[in-house]
Amino acid sequence: MGITEALLNWYDDNKRDFPFRGVDDPYLIWVSEIMLQQTQTVTVSGYFTRFIRQFPDVFALADAEEQAVLKAWEGLGYYSRARNLRKAARIIVEERQGRLPSTAEDWQRLPGVGPYTAAAIASIAFSEPVPAIDGNLTRVICRLFLVEEDPAVPSVKRRIYALGKELMPLDRPGDMNQALMDLGATICLPGTPDCPRCPLLAFCQAEQAGMAENLPNLSAKKPPKPVSVAVGLIFRGGKVLLVKRRDALLKGLYVFPLIEGEDDAAALGNALEKSGIHVDTLDEVGQARHIFTHRIWHMRLYAGKLKEAPPDTQGIWADAAGVEALPLPGAMRAARQYALEALSYGKRL
Ligand code: ADE
Repeated sequence: MGITEALLNWYDDNKRDFPFRGVDDPYLIWVSEIMLQQTQTVTVSGYFTRFIRQFPDVFALADAEEQAVLKAWEGLGYYSRARNLRKAARIIVEERQGRLPSTAEDWQRLPGVGPYTAAAIASIAFSEPVPAIDGNLTRVICRLFLVEEDPAVPSVKRRIYALGKELMPLDRPGDMNQALMDLGATICLPGTPDCPRCPLLAFCQAEQAGMAENLPNLSAKKPPKPVSVAVGLIFRGGKVLLVKRRDALLKGLYVFPLIEGEDDAAALGNALEKSGIHVDTLDEVGQARHIFTHRIWHMRLYAGKLKEAPPDTQGIWADAAGVEALPLPGAMRAARQYALEALSYGKRL
């Protein structure tokens, strides 16, 4: 028995149960694989079920407003995934009469679908024997075949892909990819693999060389850069001001007016005045932190009452229900909480 058969046997007895498993509608598999790109399987499970209830097919998603899709994505992070998903749905409806692509190559032409996701969808939904090389598969393959070089190097990446392709059976490539993912997520873990429980122990060259814990040989990643941020909770007559982000980070989502690079009240006050928004005082009401991939926002939250604003103020004055209805990113969690409490209890209004 070879690696593929041994792992598929293990998968048949040990596969993890998720709502996105055991479905064969390619649309559902596509949505789940986009969610799974940067989010853990347990978190995805809840979001997936709600999302497909709201947008049950590619036509529903293509018809949806961007804001509605972002709202359904709220809290999952990496919101460009949601914008690209809707954009791709519109392309599929407008250019392909709603027919989804069936090969990894065609999937990759759609926004938001890279080589890994394309291979995952094509193998699971259409049985194309292509390996879906993510962090899990990279780790498993580097250990099985004792790949000691840095997997970020293009030639090493190609070798890992070729080794993965060799493992793909013609009949169950989708199961094989998911078996490798499950092995990587439950046994062939980063740092401390549970080798005694591994169904591939007899095949693992790294284990035989005493190297399993040291592979893959990943290059050091740059830590996220700390950024000071001042967030303004500006109240007026039972409402609070929210603005739509135009910057790439969190684009299309609603945030309280904020400045990046400085966190003091004076700098925030100046920035607000530049857009014609005058407040009486800005009082610090809390602090918060949010970690993005490349940045950490260290936020100071300031509350103020509006004195004067131009009639064409950019943004939305939202009451508590409005704040709940708009898509706000996780980075605004603490600020949103403060605003909702203030609006409910009538502070500063
Ligand atoms: N990660 C990405 N896709 C996955 C899948 N289909 N099953 C488990 N983990 C995954």
